[in-house]
Amino acid sequence: MKILHLSAECYPIAKIGGLADVVGALPKYQNEVGEDSAVIMPFYDNKFTANNSFTTIFNGELTLGNAVYPYSLLKTTDDVLDFDVFFIHIENLLFEKYVYSENDINRFLAFQIVALDWILTLENPPDILHCHDHHTGLIPFMAQESFKYQSLNQIPVITTIHNAQYQGWMSYEHLHKIPQFNIEKIGLLDWDKCINPLAAAIKCAWRVTTVSPSYMEELKHHANGLEHLLSQESTKSVGILNGIDTDVWNPETDDFIIKNYNKTTIASGKKANKKWLCETFNLDEQKPLVAFIGRLVGEKGAELLPAVFKNALQEQEINILLLGSGFKETEEQLSSLKSEFEGNYNVYIGYDEKLSHLIYAGADFLLMPSRVEPCGLNQMYCLRYGTVPVVRSIGGLKDTVIDIAKGGFGICHDEVTVADISSAIDRALKLYKKKTQFNANRKFVMSIDHSWKVSANAYINLYNSIKQHYD
Ligand code: ADP
Ligand code: GLC
Repeated sequence: MKILHLSAECYPIAKIGGLADVVGALPKYQNEVGEDSAVIMPFYDNKFTANNSFTTIFNGELTLGNAVYPYSLLKTTDDVLDFDVFFIHIENLLFEKYVYSENDINRFLAFQIVALDWILTLENPPDILHCHDHHTGLIPFMAQESFKYQSLNQIPVITTIHNAQYQGWMSYEHLHKIPQFNIEKIGLLDWDKCINPLAAAIKCAWRVTTVSPSYMEELKHHANGLEHLLSQESTKSVGILNGIDTDVWNPETDDFIIKNYNKTTIASGKKANKKWLCETFNLDEQKPLVAFIGRLVGEKGAELLPAVFKNALQEQEINILLLGSGFKETEEQLSSLKSEFEGNYNVYIGYDEKLSHLIYAGADFLLMPSRVEPCGLNQMYCLRYGTVPVVRSIGGLKDTVIDIAKGGFGICHDEVTVADISSAIDRALKLYKKKTQFNANRKFVMSIDHSWKVSANAYINLYNSIKQHYD
């Protein structure tokens, strides 16, 4: 089966968050079981495009409203990736240093239209179009309703919602940029008096998936205005838990970390990585190390972290290390704690892929007090590196972390409050003191299998079920 994933991000080409990790791994695992899975994405002006050479496979012209842009389809000249990636290159529009920007409406409209224009020219088009998030939310509508794409309307289109918080809203002044369709169908684009690409995708996609079963249920009650629509479309919707790329995230072979290790050598491996972190960030190797990695936004509970950290550092024997960026105020509050707790606390404000691997490897605990977490990959990475997750039970965190008091291996809490997060940290520190249990537990978490194998097959079964249904 020929599967084409359409996405704004894909690791290692362009990554802002977990979407990139998913789109950078799922096709690889689908190919391993015999499918022909590829990705199409924008060609950005970034490290990856600067460091690789590309071959043009198609040239065309895009009409976007009154503007016309020449575009090219590119592929890497050498096989540097585990699957085919097709890049859409549009100078002065998609070819920018950033993935997301103020001009997202035009950029992602252009991306989606060019993707379908190009697919129209293919002798052997994909059997499945798999769209990711609102950036590709108009594809299901256009493939079904735009006159010029009529020959594509038999290709099943799947939409995966990675985060329903962001919907790609646009005003009706952009309507004329969408390739012409029967105006009576305009309701399919509409939600709350504007064009809502995510809502349009939920209405028009043949199947809707999201990235964990719990988040699928939660969306019926909290979906930033789309609750009713998601409940209505629940018969064609399913939650499929993300996996992780166990080749990229493997403490035994990871080039980013100081010392490689496996379940047998975990003690010395984690010790060496922790030592490096403590030396580099001026922390105390003898104390437990609690880390946070992620976007400093409300969904991650980030604005509570300064108060949570202050409590813990005042009252406990603890080290805290944070890697992230986001709200400026939160960044500043987190940075300003540094002088007060020198020697036990540090932050790295920014994005650093290598450092994230080192933290998963060297930390004792990883904190994720998320308000919303559609799946969450950090907790699965930390498990693989023998780091114990301390998480709020929500979305994918609920589906992947079982509390140690309930026969599981992690620390879970229910509320996103300073008090609840602090008491989860207290429990973690108590566990740290019970050395035999702590060591056995971290060894155990390394053996939990979250590889993509199961979920990649779940997607393939979903594609097959659609094909059987309509054949
Ligand atoms: P989300 O996509 O909502 O941000 P996920 O848990 O799905 O959350 O994925 C986050 C991904 O981004 C993980 O690979 C994590 O390691 C990475 N990440 C987040 N913040 C940073 C950062 N500041 N530096 C390096 N990697 C980061
Ligand atoms: C989104 C979600 C995150 C999920 C990721 C990959 O960014 O916020 O929870 O893990 O997508 O699906």
